[in-house]
Amino acid sequence: LNFKVSRERSYILQLLFNGLRRLEYRGYDSAGISIDYSHEATTVPLVFRQEGNIENLVKSVYQEVGATNLNLEESFSTHAGIAHTRWATHGEPAPRNSHPQTSDPDNEFLVVHNGVITNYEVLKETLVRHGFTFESETDTEVIPKLAKFIFDNANEEGDKSMAFSQVVLEVMRHLEGAYALIFKSRHYPNELIACKRGSPLLLGVKELTEQNSDGASFNGVTYLSSNGQPKEFFFSSDASALVEHTKKVLMIEDGEVVHLKDGGASIFKFNHIKGKHGGTLTRLPSIERALSFLEMEVEQINKGKYEHYMQKEIHEQPESLTTSMRGRLLRGGSCKAKSVLLGGLKDHLKTIRRSRRIVFIGCGTSYNAALASRPILEELSGIPVTMEIASDLVDRQGPIYREDTTVFVSQSGETADTLLALEYALENGALCVGITNTVGSAIARNTHCGVHVNAGCEIGVASTKAYTSQIVVMVMLALAIGGDTLSSQGRRGAIIDGLFELPSKVKEVLKLDEEMKDLAKLLIAEQSLLVFGRGYNYATALEGALKVKEVALMHSEGMLAGEMKHGPLALVDETLPIVVIATRDSCFSKQQSVIQQLHARKGRLIVLCTKGDAASVSVSGSCRVIEVPQVEDCLQPVINIVPLQLLAYHLTVLRGYNVDQPRNLAKSVTTQ
Ligand code: G6P
Repeated sequence: LNFKVSRERSYILQLLFNGLRRLEYRGYDSAGISIDYSHEATTVPLVFRQEGNIENLVKSVYQEVGATNLNLEESFSTHAGIAHTRWATHGEPAPRNSHPQTSDPDNEFLVVHNGVITNYEVLKETLVRHGFTFESETDTEVIPKLAKFIFDNANEEGDKSMAFSQVVLEVMRHLEGAYALIFKSRHYPNELIACKRGSPLLLGVKELTEQNSDGASFNGVTYLSSNGQPKEFFFSSDASALVEHTKKVLMIEDGEVVHLKDGGASIFKFNHIKGKHGGTLTRLPSIERALSFLEMEVEQINKGKYEHYMQKEIHEQPESLTTSMRGRLLRGGSCKAKSVLLGGLKDHLKTIRRSRRIVFIGCGTSYNAALASRPILEELSGIPVTMEIASDLVDRQGPIYREDTTVFVSQSGETADTLLALEYALENGALCVGITNTVGSAIARNTHCGVHVNAGCEIGVASTKAYTSQIVVMVMLALAIGGDTLSSQGRRGAIIDGLFELPSKVKEVLKLDEEMKDLAKLLIAEQSLLVFGRGYNYATALEGALKVKEVALMHSEGMLAGEMKHGPLALVDETLPIVVIATRDSCFSKQQSVIQQLHARKGRLIVLCTKGDAASVSVSGSCRVIEVPQVEDCLQPVINIVPLQLLAYHLTVLRGYNVDQPRNLAKSVTTQ
C-alpha cells in the first residue's frame, strides 16, 4: 500500500495513541493499533504492532506512514479504530504476540483482548484441522480465526448477510475463560463490536453537540437512544482513557455485546451457561440504558508538577486521606458521641455484628492494608478476623460459611484473583462487603454492600495513596461495626480525633523526603533489605518491603519481628541493611529488645521511631534513625509507610529504573 499520513491531522491515530498512554499502567510490554485506510470505495484495516511501550509503537507507526502525505482524517467521516497495550500472559512480548490479533494476512477479523481464554488449545486444534495457521503463541489468536471460520461457513451455506453481531455471538458461544473483546472487520467497515465476560469494559458516549457547551445543562443521566444527535463512542477497559472525551459511560455487563454501527449503539445479551461450553443467544432489541456519570477529573490523571505518578500520589496523601473521610466522620456536639457514618453499610451492620467471623480477602498492597486494620477491627468488634490471600483461598477452597462476613479489598475492584474469591464466597452464602477505589468496578457491583475508598484515581503501578486510604476506610469500618458502648467511648473518640488530624500529620512526615533520598543514596548498591515490624506495623514491614522490591527491583522482605529469632536472625551481619519499625505502641519495648539483639549481632540498623525517641532506640548512637510523628496506634501504619514509600521511590530513580512502570508488573491484574 502506498499511503501517507500527516502527524498533526491524523485525528484517529492521536486519539488512539492518547487512549493507550492513559491505559499504559495496565500493561506496557507491547502495543498495537488498527485503523482504516479508504481508497477508491474500498476500506481496508491497517495493523501496526510493536514490542515495548506505547512510544515505541507511535514511533514505528509514524516511521512507516510518515514519509508520505495522505491525510487519514479526510478519508472517512466515520472511523472505527482499535488499540491495545499488553501485559503478556501467553507468549513473550513480541509484535506477533501483540494485539490486534488477526484472522489472516488480509485482516478479515481483528481482535483486541483482555483476559485469558482457557479453552484456546482445543479451539486452536480444531481451527488448525480446518486449515488455519497460527503465527502467535497467544490464547487470543483463536478468536479472530474463529470469527473468520464462522463467517466463511455462513457464506458457503449461502448466508451472505450474516450480521457482524451474529458472528461475534457465535464466537462467544465457543469461548471459555475471561475476556473483554473488541472486534473489527474488513467485512464490516466502520463498525465495532465489544463484548465481555469477567474482564472490565466501559463504553463512553460523547454527544458531539456537547463540544461547544460547558456541560452545565447535563443532568448526569441520559439514554443511548434518547435523541438523534451525532455521537462519538469509546470503548475502554477503564475510565482513565475516557474522561478527557466524555464523562458519560455505560458499564458493560457480563454477557453483553455492544454493536456500534451507523452512528448508534445497540446492545445484545449472551447468556453463558456456567461451567459449560456454549450458551444461549438472545437478541435483545436495542435497549435503553441509563449512563453513569464519571466522578473523575482529567487533572487527576495528569502528573501535574511531579516527575512521576508514584511521586505525585505519595505527595497527595494528605488530600486523598481527607477525601476518603469526607462526610463520614461526625465529631458530635456537646451531648452527641463522636461517630462514623458509612452509607454503603448501614443496612448490613446488624448482620455483620452477628457474624461468626470476619474474613479479609485481597492481594498485594490491598491485602497489606487489610492486615494493618485487623487489630483494630478485632479490638472494637470482638469478632475473630482472619486474613486470606485471594488466590490461596480459592486454591485451598478454604471453608467459608453463611455466618461469615467476607470483606474484599481491592484498589481496582477488578483483580481476577479477588473476583474469583468473591464468586466463591457468594456461592458459599457469606455476606460479601467490597472495599474498592473504583466506583462501578466488578467487586463494587457484585458484593452485597461496601465502602468506596475515594482516594482518587491511582495510576502509579505501585499503590501508595490507595493503601493509606484503604487503612483509613477500614479503621472507619471497625468503628462502624464496633458497638458504641460507654466503656469504648474514650478509645473511639481518640481514634476519630486522630483521623481528623491524620492529613496534617502526613503532611509533616512528607517533609522527610530529602532525608529518605539521602538514605536511598546510601542503599543504592545493596542487594537486599529486611524490614522488621510487629503488631499494627507488621503490615508496614510487608508493605514497605513490597514497595522496595516492586519498583526499586531490590530484594526486600518484610518480617514479623516476633519471628526474628526463629530463622531470619541467621541472615544478620554487618553488611545487610535492616529497617526496624519501633514507633510507640504496646509493642515498643519488645521492639527495643529486637534492636538490642540485632545490634549484638552487628546488624546494620535503620530504625523508624517516634519523634523524640532517637536516643532510646539507637544503641550507643550506632543506628540511623528516622523520626515520625506519633498518632493513635491503629493509625500509625498510615504515618509509618510514608518514609518507606519515599525510600522506594528515590531508590528506584537513583538506580535508574522506571518508577511508574516496574518490570513485569501491571496495575490491575485482570487475569489469573
Ligand atoms: C497487582 C498490583 C499491586 C496491587 C495488586 C492488587 O499485583 O501490581 O500493586 O496491590 O495487584 O490489586 P487491587 O487492585 O486488587 O488492589
